[in-house]
Amino acid sequence: MTAVIEAEGLSKFYGRRRGLENLTLTVAAGEVFGYLGPNGAGKTTTIRLLLDVIRPTRGRIRILGKDPRDHRVRARIGYLPGELSLEGTERAREYLEFLAQVRGSGRSQIPVLAERLEADLSVSMGKLSKGNKQKVGLIQAFMHNPDLLVLDEPTSGLDPLVQQEFLAMVREARNAGRTVLMSSHVLAEVEHVSDRVGVVRGGRLVAVEGVAALREKAIRRVEFHFDAPVPPEAFEGLPGVRDLRVEGTAVRCTIDGRPDALIKAAARFTVVHMVSEEPDLEEIFLAYYSEEEDHAYAGA
Ligand SMILES: Nc1ncnc2c1ncn2[C@@H]1O[C@H](COP(=O)(O)OP(=O)(O)OP(=O)(O)O)[C@@H](O)[C@H]1O
Ligand SMILES: [Mg+2]
Repeated sequence: MTAVIEAEGLSKFYGRRRGLENLTLTVAAGEVFGYLGPNGAGKTTTIRLLLDVIRPTRGRIRILGKDPRDHRVRARIGYLPGELSLEGTERAREYLEFLAQVRGSGRSQIPVLAERLEADLSVSMGKLSKGNKQKVGLIQAFMHNPDLLVLDEPTSGLDPLVQQEFLAMVREARNAGRTVLMSSHVLAEVEHVSDRVGVVRGGRLVAVEGVAALREKAIRRVEFHFDAPVPPEAFEGLPGVRDLRVEGTAVRCTIDGRPDALIKAAARFTVVHMVSEEPDLEEIFLAYYSEEEDHAYAGA
């Protein structure tokens, strides 16, 4: 495994106020890591430390195998800051073109990304709406095809369709072998693109889990409707099936883990309709970890 982000015992105190304490985390090359936590948890602090915007009180950081102060690292990172300040009378397009010139790459991507995100680049920076500001921030983070994308609340201010397009951009980046760390308040925003998620609270990383593993742990409600009544025995004792109710042509239950056995049992009859609720991973994630917080897994 090639590590793209390595943090070891990373702490940041603002005077006596804890920003982050003892973070140890490794993000592998090609991985999308969702960094979750409520307001004031330490997400922005972590991201700023990783990018050398602020310096740690303690701990060690390696980014792309190098010290984050190394200027060669900077060129390979795309960064979307949490509170983006874009001011002035310069038009958004001119600002982005200027950045491309300074970086020596990315100019051709500006119109492509602007179209995908439906960004209006003809407006002067100071007059951009919140959503358009965020889009300009995303364009400058993605346009030079960086090896590592670090995005602080990238979906904030974006409408649902644009959020979907952004998530598609993250998937494409991952498919191209790039690494992404993105923060969010809610798992639902990042679960469909993240390989792993970590939860930070009160400056401490309290949980790290693979999204696929989380989904396997999920309990979900399932309903099958058949063209004729089915015998209850056909569904009894199936692994992972709970709260089974067979009522005439309908079978209702919850499944814990894989639905495979249930699907195979149902497939012996004629299914006319089926309902499977998307599990609420956030609920499971938080319920699962709130009990374990004291001896939480804080590695990677
Ligand atoms: N410059 C600063 N000076 C003093 N305290 C700070 C500073 N920046 C952050 N903090 C404190 O550090 C803690 C973590 O803040 P941080 O901004 O990292 O949280 P966050 O997870 O990004 O929150 P949000 O979801 O609101 O963006 C908070 O208690 C915050 O008040
Ligand atoms: Mg923040």
